[in-house]
Amino acid sequence: MGDIIAALDVGTTKICAMIAEVEGEEHLTVLGVGQVPSRGVKRGTVVNVQEVTSAIGEAVAQAERTANIRVANAFVSFSGHHVESVPNRGMVTLSPRGTRSVTLEDVTRVLENASAIHLPPNREVIQTLPRMFKVDDQEGIREPLGMEGFRLEVDALVITASTVAVQNLVKCVRANGIEIDGLVLQGIASGMAVLTPEEQELGVAVLDVGGGTTDVAIFLEGSPWHVFATQVAGYHLTQDVAIGLRMPLAMAEALKVRYGHAQPKWVSPDENVGVEGFGDDSRRTISRHFLAQILEARAEEILDLVWRGIKASGYDGLLPAGVVLTGGSAQLAGFRDLARERLKVPVRIGHVPDLRGLPEEFHSPMYATVVGLLKWGAKQPGALSYGQIRSDAPQEEDWWGKMGDWFRRLLP
Ligand SMILES: Nc1ncnc2c1ncn2[C@@H]1O[C@H](COP(=O)(O)OP(=O)(O)OP(=O)(O)O)[C@@H](O)[C@H]1O
Ligand SMILES: [Mg+2]
Repeated sequence: MGDIIAALDVGTTKICAMIAEVEGEEHLTVLGVGQVPSRGVKRGTVVNVQEVTSAIGEAVAQAERTANIRVANAFVSFSGHHVESVPNRGMVTLSPRGTRSVTLEDVTRVLENASAIHLPPNREVIQTLPRMFKVDDQEGIREPLGMEGFRLEVDALVITASTVAVQNLVKCVRANGIEIDGLVLQGIASGMAVLTPEEQELGVAVLDVGGGTTDVAIFLEGSPWHVFATQVAGYHLTQDVAIGLRMPLAMAEALKVRYGHAQPKWVSPDENVGVEGFGDDSRRTISRHFLAQILEARAEEILDLVWRGIKASGYDGLLPAGVVLTGGSAQLAGFRDLARERLKVPVRIGHVPDLRGLPEEFHSPMYATVVGLLKWGAKQPGALSYGQIRSDAPQEEDWWGKMGDWFRRLLP
């Protein structure tokens, strides 16, 4: 029997748990799944600890029952508009005399060194991911383990978030007796599930358009390169329909999923749908074309917001593989084509790959995050995860900094 790992995706619409067995890096067998409608999460952030704690407990209990395994640790998804990523470099000395080979401990140390950035007390580091390593003068190294050298350097991506948001989520998970193996950004997790190695290498942006957040992760040269999240997603599409057509949210949601379209130009102006609105004699018909107009306006806003964020990062010209859409809202009819027209890059929908034991309905792009968490856990890329990151991580003696001081002292 291989190792057992668990994933927990705490979304705005649903909370999903999965348990899998890992053999090697690639062979995952899903043993149990659990899913409950989300409670106490708003725009990707915990707003009610009790509600989220009990919803997590239910989702995990379902997965545990099918797998017949008790979950003690899990990889947990994280999101929120307060998430930021900054590139930073780290450096450690391998050996002051002679060379020696790089160990896993050195990789952890150098990532710890890269994580030591100055942050206000209300923010903390949740992940530090290597983009590229350098051993002495040799640059562009992906796998430094076993290489000989004097010095190991890393060009890393440091992901930070609001401390309150992190602590609240951690509390909800731990209250269920579950330790956190790592907090993984939703966009990165989704990318792990749906991207091909070639896309990750060439340059691609994952847009996970969920219920309360749209998570963006840019992958380049095989690694996550930049991440951010916006607070506009599926819930806003539903809310616009409810307001525009004066109906309860639950009905607007059902109407959106069943008859919605993001491109009114493909919907006949003569097509009508019977709906119930507010009030007593509220049975009426609405134009499907009008419904599509409402959805198009908000879908365009989501895409424009995301593109503005990508442009601001400066990576908009480095995405030959274009955009891959995941999350429940990626399933809105016409959304992919709208994205293609609006962003003028190749766009595809990222369906979850076939994993042994994964029930058919979990292949929807809605489950990219939870499956991606499992893949992340199986691969355990040499990254620093939440729990490993110590805010008091010792600053490695910076040789270059010291030399700089020495030179400065010589100056008049
Ligand atoms: N066929 C469909 N057409 C349009 N929208 C859909 C469809 N199916 C699901 N959705 C929307 O997808 C959203 C849920 O997506 P998802 O499960 O990815 O969100 P989440 O992970 O719970 O939330 P988040 O990641 O934003 O915190 C809901 O807003 C729902 O209306
Ligand atoms: Mg989600």
